[in-house]
Amino acid sequence: MKISDMENSLEIMIQEAKMIISESDAVLITSGAGMGVDSGLPDFRGNEGFWQAYPVAKARGLSFEGIANPEWFDRDPLLAWAFYGHRLNLYRDTVPHEGFAMLRELCRSKGDDYFILTSNVDGQFQKAGFDQDKICEIHGSIHHLQCTKDKDHGIWSAEDDSVTLDMETFQALAPLPLCPACGALARPNILMFSDWDWIGYRSDMQMKRFGRWKINLMNEKKKVCVIEIGAGTAIASIRRMSESAAKQFHTSLIRINPRESQGLHGTIKLPLGGFEGIKAIIFSSN
Ligand SMILES: NC(=O)c1ccc[n+]([C@@H]2O[C@H](COP(=O)([O-])OP(=O)(O)OC[C@H]3O[C@@H](n4cnc5c(N)ncnc54)[C@H](O)[C@@H]3O)[C@@H](O)[C@H]2O)c1
Ligand SMILES: [Zn+2]
Repeated sequence: MKISDMENSLEIMIQEAKMIISESDAVLITSGAGMGVDSGLPDFRGNEGFWQAYPVAKARGLSFEGIANPEWFDRDPLLAWAFYGHRLNLYRDTVPHEGFAMLRELCRSKGDDYFILTSNVDGQFQKAGFDQDKICEIHGSIHHLQCTKDKDHGIWSAEDDSVTLDMETFQALAPLPLCPACGALARPNILMFSDWDWIGYRSDMQMKRFGRWKINLMNEKKKVCVIEIGAGTAIASIRRMSESAAKQFHTSLIRINPRESQGLHGTIKLPLGGFEGIKAIIFSSN
């Protein structure tokens, strides 16, 4: 395809997306790690991407899948908490990029009838002012903790905990976050790889709320636009959920992703970064 044809087809896709958004009564926003990239956060695209963010993991030959495993809380708690403590601090310090505010404004213009579905554990939508009760975090949240020894000790907020690190050795420094019920080591309430101990009730409750929201909209025959940003193909849960919601709402999925915008027939593919893509479909002139 010639560059001018590509530009034309992108422009057509943008216009289609804008039409769907303007005609919709409610908004479903779905997102993966790519949504945070324009706020300066790393995605974990392949080993190279991950190792760029964590050179120490490279030195120890650890992949994302290798380190994001609950066994490290037993084998090497200081390393486990270096990885998660670093991410906790990073996400706490991050300012959500302007695309979040644009989406927030869009939702406001639809009477705040919206839902967010994300595999991100970073809490950036809450930080950008979205309602906690309208967010579903399918893989949990780094801002919540659970006990490593007893699942009955539930889930609690991490707001009272802080983690300091020695970046040279990539080790967390004591004291580490502990379970208030029994004093055992705490871990983030995030679904990791080979993780049979993740406590899922917080995410289950969010998912139930999301389900009720969808059913109400369907019963009321409301028009919903589905906007997906930065969800990758490696763990494609969010992509599948976006596709299925678009089908349920009889709409075309709007997929913003600079490298992986491909999709099922009818997908509105926008090969743009998150901020640029959101700006193009919400704010550029008609
Ligand atoms: N911020 C976070 O909370 C965070 C960060 C990394 C990984 N994770 C976890 O790791 C897993 C990774 O899966 P994933 O699909 O979310 O991430 P991924 O790293 O596999 O994929 C990221 C996607 O974002 C796209 N992308 C890159 N730059 C972008 C930009 N500027 N704007 C928009 N999109 C961009 C990439 O093309 C890719 O498709 C998930 O399970 C998630 O829970 C979470
Ligand atoms: Zn405990």
